[in-house]
Amino acid sequence: NDDQFKKVISHAKEYGYIFQSSEIYDGLSAVYDYAQNGVELKKNIRDYWWQAMVQLNDNIIGLDSAIFMHPTTWKASGHVDAFSDPLIDNKDSKKRYRADVLVEDYCAKLEAKIDKEVAKAEKRFGEAFNKAEFVSTNGRVLGYQEKIDSILKRLGESLTKEDLADVKALIEELEIACPLSGSRNWTEVKQFNLMFGTKLGASADSAMDLYLRPETAQGIFVNFSNVQKTGRMKIPFGIAQTGKAFRNEIVARQFIFRMREFEQMEMQFFIKPGTQAEWYDYWKETRLKWHKSLGLGEENYRFHDHEKLAHYADAAADIEFKFPFGFKELEGIHSRTDFDLKAHEEHSGKKLQYFDPEENKSYTPYVLETSIGLDRMFLAVFSAALMDEELDNNTTRTVLKIPAVLAPTKAAIFPLVKKDGLPEIAKEIFDDLKWDFNVMYDEKDAVGKRYRRQDAAGTPFCITVDHDTIEDRTVTIRHRDTMEQKRVAISELRAIIAKEVDV
Ligand code: GAP
Repeated sequence: NDDQFKKVISHAKEYGYIFQSSEIYDGLSAVYDYAQNGVELKKNIRDYWWQAMVQLNDNIIGLDSAIFMHPTTWKASGHVDAFSDPLIDNKDSKKRYRADVLVEDYCAKLEAKIDKEVAKAEKRFGEAFNKAEFVSTNGRVLGYQEKIDSILKRLGESLTKEDLADVKALIEELEIACPLSGSRNWTEVKQFNLMFGTKLGASADSAMDLYLRPETAQGIFVNFSNVQKTGRMKIPFGIAQTGKAFRNEIVARQFIFRMREFEQMEMQFFIKPGTQAEWYDYWKETRLKWHKSLGLGEENYRFHDHEKLAHYADAAADIEFKFPFGFKELEGIHSRTDFDLKAHEEHSGKKLQYFDPEENKSYTPYVLETSIGLDRMFLAVFSAALMDEELDNNTTRTVLKIPAVLAPTKAAIFPLVKKDGLPEIAKEIFDDLKWDFNVMYDEKDAVGKRYRRQDAAGTPFCITVDHDTIEDRTVTIRHRDTMEQKRVAISELRAIIAKEVDV
């Protein structure tokens, strides 16, 4: 809900996870910076993904291709022609909308209106009220439902001029039926390409128009032959990469859920044509298991199988996550057929085929893709981890239960007081553990306050050095989630922490 989401955003700032980009200049919309804790969490998520995909699969290897690519890449991939959103401007308010989002907003408002009328009628007619009949005769509001459904279905596909005119007409009608913008003066609906353009080269006539890549996947496709041959890879095999992608998103609200500069973690799995259905099921299940292994709550995930397919796909599903604003796409699993490799063959004139020694013939492999936004995964982890807990003594604590393996700082080490040689022992422990884990030293404020600070920052362990430590070389180790405290030998610390934070 809204309050929880606001809390996520302010907590992310207060505890050094995420800042608005260029904040001193009032920020840049849908662009964010990762602060001292955010950069660690992001790195840990990336590493956790890399380990599961590349390190643990001997048939998946890594790649780091450039953000700049030859402009023909984007012609071949279909992005120049088809990577756009339908846009509409309100001439009076000068506000710009994504037409599909606007229609959805009207739809939600219309539904609320219908519910209200149904409730009113129910109250008036009591027992005798027939909801189905009421709804079917109340055409004034319901007449739109079919139109909306049909338009929403068409939006997102490649739209003709007539389609765009229909969308405009529907928006005008809906504005009269349930006003949202307060003005009926709309422009035509236009297709708006989401790629950022730039130029390579200094002189005006030799400069080349380039795009910032809108997905990392194409860097994998164009390198297919080089990687397959030098890595001597046999099908089935995968190529994985993480890296920045850029999209000029029109509706850029919802914090780091939809950004203009973001990071993707993608894997293209090259397979024999005809085996795509089984690999599609395999990667759907495998990726869902990966998510569930983090322990953020199984009920927070669900599949959404696509009916409407992108131009390159023969099957596609999202893994959706329950964000504070509802279930939304976190990761996509796409069966991309041989669309991309064939398109690059056609545009480059180079063969992108695989010689199958078992079949003794060459073919263009099919591709199964898993694609997840790193920032979106960050938001999933962060928002599921943030909670207020009621404690036995009638107080509450704010705690960020980030899975230990992903937590930015694994342990904080405190001297109980700033004297009697305790800081020296605490620093010794810090200097010893820092080689294996990201740890920190803190001696400010009362120890209870220091615990709370680490709870809110997401640190799984706190280690406190007290006067007994001088006698017996033991310390107190406190667990973030259970708040349980145990007395253990300094020499045991490494193993205790490793048990929870190592994968
Ligand atoms: N190569 C396929 C591809 O790019 P996509 O569904 O457009 O497919 C894949 O994007 C994933 O990238 C999404 O599931 C989402 O997690 C992430 N993503 C896409 N656009 C994003 C944006 N504007 N901001 C943050 N993450 C985004």
